[in-house]
Amino acid sequence: KTGARQNQSYKARRAPGRRRSKTKPAAMGTHTSEAEKEMREWCVALPKVELHAHLNGSVRNSTLLELAKELGDKGVIVFEDVKGVIMKNDRSLPECVRLFDLFHTLTTDHDTVTRIAKEVVGDFAAENVVYLEIRTTPKNNEAKGITKRSYMNAVVKGLKSVEDVDVVINDEKLSCTPMSVLGGDTKRKKIYVRLLLSIDRHETTSAALDTVNLAMEMKDQGVIGIDLSGNPVVGEWETYLPALEHAKELGIPTTIHCGEVPNRKEIQAMLDFCPQRLGHVCCLDDEEWKKLKSSVIPVEICLTSNVMTGGTPSLELHHFADLYNTKHPLSICTDDSGLFSTSLSNEYYLAASTFGLSKTELFRLAQGAVEFVFADDEVKKSLRAVFERAAAERLTS
Ligand code: IMP
Ligand code: ZN
Repeated sequence: KTGARQNQSYKARRAPGRRRSKTKPAAMGTHTSEAEKEMREWCVALPKVELHAHLNGSVRNSTLLELAKELGDKGVIVFEDVKGVIMKNDRSLPECVRLFDLFHTLTTDHDTVTRIAKEVVGDFAAENVVYLEIRTTPKNNEAKGITKRSYMNAVVKGLKSVEDVDVVINDEKLSCTPMSVLGGDTKRKKIYVRLLLSIDRHETTSAALDTVNLAMEMKDQGVIGIDLSGNPVVGEWETYLPALEHAKELGIPTTIHCGEVPNRKEIQAMLDFCPQRLGHVCCLDDEEWKKLKSSVIPVEICLTSNVMTGGTPSLELHHFADLYNTKHPLSICTDDSGLFSTSLSNEYYLAASTFGLSKTELFRLAQGAVEFVFADDEVKKSLRAVFERAAAERLTS
């Protein structure tokens, strides 16, 4: 494992006086000083790009509780039991996997999928996320009359029904929102949203291929890429490879959850596949680490998620420091903001407070993520302009 490597490359960036034990990352709202409060507010105001957010992992606790109450009243679940599980804070990776089964019981019908998609976009926009890639696993559920296609239609319907924010899911809408402003505080907010379809590691080759074909069919509805995710100790790389290759042939960008647990053969194969982005990269040995660095594949860094699920021993020992110090392309992401009680602003705050990043460094980190979005050059151009405008304001205060 990579502890020595992380220590060596740590330089002097750790904030003074921080404990090095395995502590749970601080959630939003636990202000201890004026300086911390000011920094947290600055992180909220910062325009941000979110590239790694799972739909069902980003649902508000209050919504989950409401849905659980409804199913409890119908006798489908025992509300009090479920409430305890939803409100529990410290979760291991196996507990998270089990929790997703519960979330899916609560959220898998068309109207609920529409509702959570709408709320998740609203929540990200509220904290000044200007570009959001949401990933979700299209689900067949015969008993409920749900197909992968109808599930995704329900997600798209959710994006289109956001009321307080202008949601741009394809180029058509770009010209329809002259009054809105990306990342602004005063005018109506505007957010670009794109969808990634996740292949779950439980799926067969044929089901994975269906997902890639669905992504192709839904290109004009904001679907822009493919993700491989799910329980990292389940399944074999060879099962998903044909679908990932198919995506490559079709020109659909891919991002892969990589190295959540040590698995030499699989990590090597993932790096050899050369996806457009990688998620996590926690458990890489020295040789794999070297290979990652020379590949220059951008990494989606999820600080809280990695600590909570044990992918890294502590925030302070997170491999972010090494990647950041060596200028490896990376972006800060939430993974599952609902599940881990975090937000993208909080993740930026943690990067600053743990690794001693200045406001300018945080700003450049947020700005740099624009270059790794899967959206086309027009969107990138517009996002670059947002950050240029914001630089003057944010970097002088
Ligand atoms: P959904 O795809 O919208 O249902 O979002 C939840 C799903 O995302 C889970 O069932 C997992 O398959 C996947 N997921 C969320 N977080 C993680 C993670 O940290 N590692 C691997 N898969 C994850
Ligand atoms: Zn993830």
